[in-house]
Amino acid sequence: MPKPAMKVLYSREFIAEQVERLGKEISRDYHGREILLAGVLKGSFLFFADLVRAISSPVVVDFVRLASYGSETRSSGIVEMRKDLEIPLQGRDVIIVEDIIDSGNTLEYLYHHLLQRKPRSLKICTLIDKRALREVPIEADYVGITMDEGFIIGYGLDHDERYRNLPDIHLLQEG
Ligand code: IMP
Ligand code: MG
Repeated sequence: MPKPAMKVLYSREFIAEQVERLGKEISRDYHGREILLAGVLKGSFLFFADLVRAISSPVVVDFVRLASYGSETRSSGIVEMRKDLEIPLQGRDVIIVEDIIDSGNTLEYLYHHLLQRKPRSLKICTLIDKRALREVPIEADYVGITMDEGFIIGYGLDHDERYRNLPDIHLLQEG
């Protein structure tokens, strides 16, 4: 497969600053209460690892694995849960940790699914909020970086499972 053209869009330093800020905001808002951070695999794994270390409140961690069908760069809205959380949510303060919100379909599904388990509170933290192609009106409570459109890779984000290990976020130049 030929290597697609890409250029750095968000540097590792810029990402680290946003993650630090999010950690401070979250720590401030929860006043030392224990937070259950629910990471959405696989894309959030690096963001998640950095975010937990930027939060000073006590945390417990758990993971959910979702897959949405669609083309290579566009999700279809049909979401499947491949691995559920293991910790019961009832009575807990829960934050969903996602890599990127695009159409919003993935989070819309997960948010309402988890709400049925009666957490004390349920919020959303996303590293990237891609706003141009939103299909459902879902908003994150904590946003690292807002972008308009374009397909990005690196820092956990993949294209066809590749490039998750790139330390910076790159814009994939298609065509
Ligand atoms: P949504 O359901 O359309 O909001 O898509 C969310 C999921 O699609 C994310 O969790 C990512 O896995 C994937 N995704 C959306 N946009 C991008 C991108 O620019 N790069 C890599 N993955 C993306
Ligand atoms: Mg993905």
